[in-house]
Amino acid sequence: MLDNKVALVTGASRGIGRAVAVKLAANGAHVIVNYNQSKEKAEEVVQEILAKGGQAESYACDVADYQAVGDMIQDLLAKHGHIDILVNNAGITRDQFIGKINEADYDLVMNTNCKSCFNTMHHLAAHFLERKSGRVINLTSTSGVLGNVAQANYAASKAGIIGLTKTMGREWASRGITVNAIAPGFIRTDMTEVLSDKIKEKTIARIPMQRIGEPEDVAGMAAFFASDEAGYITGQIICVDGGMAI
Ligand SMILES: NC(=O)c1ccc[n+]([C@@H]2O[C@H](COP(=O)([O-])OP(=O)(O)OC[C@H]3O[C@@H](n4cnc5c(N)ncnc54)[C@H](OP(=O)(O)O)[C@@H]3O)[C@@H](O)[C@H]2O)c1
Repeated sequence: MLDNKVALVTGASRGIGRAVAVKLAANGAHVIVNYNQSKEKAEEVVQEILAKGGQAESYACDVADYQAVGDMIQDLLAKHGHIDILVNNAGITRDQFIGKINEADYDLVMNTNCKSCFNTMHHLAAHFLERKSGRVINLTSTSGVLGNVAQANYAASKAGIIGLTKTMGREWASRGITVNAIAPGFIRTDMTEVLSDKIKEKTIARIPMQRIGEPEDVAGMAAFFASDEAGYITGQIICVDGGMAI
């Protein structure tokens, strides 16, 4: 289905990005497993994909770094000739009440989660426009849709991604490029594992399906947005959250 397509998945060494990388590779794409620090884990993802007969390679790059992202995209285009699918998944949290969020943590979360999406789309714009094709899938969050206590930095970054997704959906709609977003709720990854049992219980109580989601639940939606079947869908924000944002 995604044969001969190259997919760049940011933050694919762990969690949701990992599941998205494995799924896109299973569907035939050559996947670039981007990571920032987790070299060994990124290599594990590549090995898992290769063992299943897929194609993948890892690439270290801090997606918050405008110049580094430009260099990564130039390298990948020089090597592969094309990038067809971009999944902006890399993300971090620095949860705290607003009076206690220091400026550095506000900027770090905004730059890693939101500016990173600008960095990748900006550096891929000429390539996508020239080829009149491209699929962009951005990872936002129910926190960006609903807001969330002690996540002012994170929720702002994720709401920013929603604005970027709708804007780029409009800007690129007539150019054969789709831009959509997935808003996961509470998914079992390292990001949520660090939360206290009390917060986990309170969060699960807010989920109509009454259970935590799995990275694979999110990967299925990413694969759909990347597929031919989703060719007439753009600028949409789909919640994969067990009903949390209803
Ligand atoms: N888990 C949830 O419940 C949930 C809910 C809503 C939205 N989301 C969103 O879904 C996405 C994935 O979350 P997750 O739970 O899978 O997180 P995770 O398990 O903590 O994994 C985060 C991934 O992002 C990468 N990353 C972090 N900073 C990076 C940077 N500067 N440059 C490149 N890669 C970077 C990490 O790579 P390294 O280890 O190499 O740094 C890792 O692969 C995030 O955008 C998150 O906000 C998650």
